[in-house]
Amino acid sequence: MDLVLFGPPGAGKGTQAVRIREQLDVPQISTGDMMRAARREGTPLGKKFDEYMSAGKLVPDALVLELMKERLSKPDAAKGAIFDGFPRTVAQAEALDELLAEMGRKIDQVVVLEVPVEDIVDRVTGRRSDPTSGQVYHVRYNPPPAGLEVVQRKDDTEEVVRKRFQEYEANTMPVLPHYDAKGLVKRVDGVGSLDEVTERIRAALGA
Ligand code: AP5
Repeated sequence: MDLVLFGPPGAGKGTQAVRIREQLDVPQISTGDMMRAARREGTPLGKKFDEYMSAGKLVPDALVLELMKERLSKPDAAKGAIFDGFPRTVAQAEALDELLAEMGRKIDQVVVLEVPVEDIVDRVTGRRSDPTSGQVYHVRYNPPPAGLEVVQRKDDTEEVVRKRFQEYEANTMPVLPHYDAKGLVKRVDGVGSLDEVTERIRAALGA
């Protein structure tokens, strides 16, 4: 199963991918997480990613596609994947189709999590994560356990998240017609408790 979890920044893609990946028995592939890992390692590529990410801009397609090609060649992705935060441009969607076709695969479903922009600002500015496990929390909606030291992403300010949302509307929303034309898109209301949203996704997938 190759599934695209689509939606604006902070819609809950990462949170929900973790909740459904075991059932689907495929890994979550988050380009954002891979870029943050490269940034932490301080590699030249990581520094390049940082320039774009800190400003809330999309990283150029060529760099993202290089990363994806390498990730898809790993054994755990041989049966499928949940793509989280990818593809984000029409060029990325077309390149993903080609990469999967070479492996005899194709995108099976696209689930769009729909969340209004003001909820997104609230969710993103309240997001915290455990630097060791990567587990994501929210200060009010999914609070971290007492005593756990959590960190905030540096692009999770109101100013940067509004910029990321503009990028989503300008460059990422135009990806949907690519999948709509193939009849693959299911739209899911992303507002509600974490469990409610998981159930809606499962229903949309028929899982
Ligand atoms: P990326 O890391 O992909 O960020 P994003 O798409 O902006 O998405 P987020 O990770 O912010 O949100 P999410 O939808 O996963 O939400 P989450 O589950 O954490 O990208 C970051 C940057 O990297 C980009 O700006 C760009 O520069 C670059 N980049 C990455 N991929 C790229 C690509 N393919 N091409 C080009 N550039 C790329 O939830 C958010 C918060 O809400 C959490 O605190 C969570 O606890 C809470 N929450 C979740 N669900 C609910 C709920 N139902 N109710 C209340 N709170 C909830």
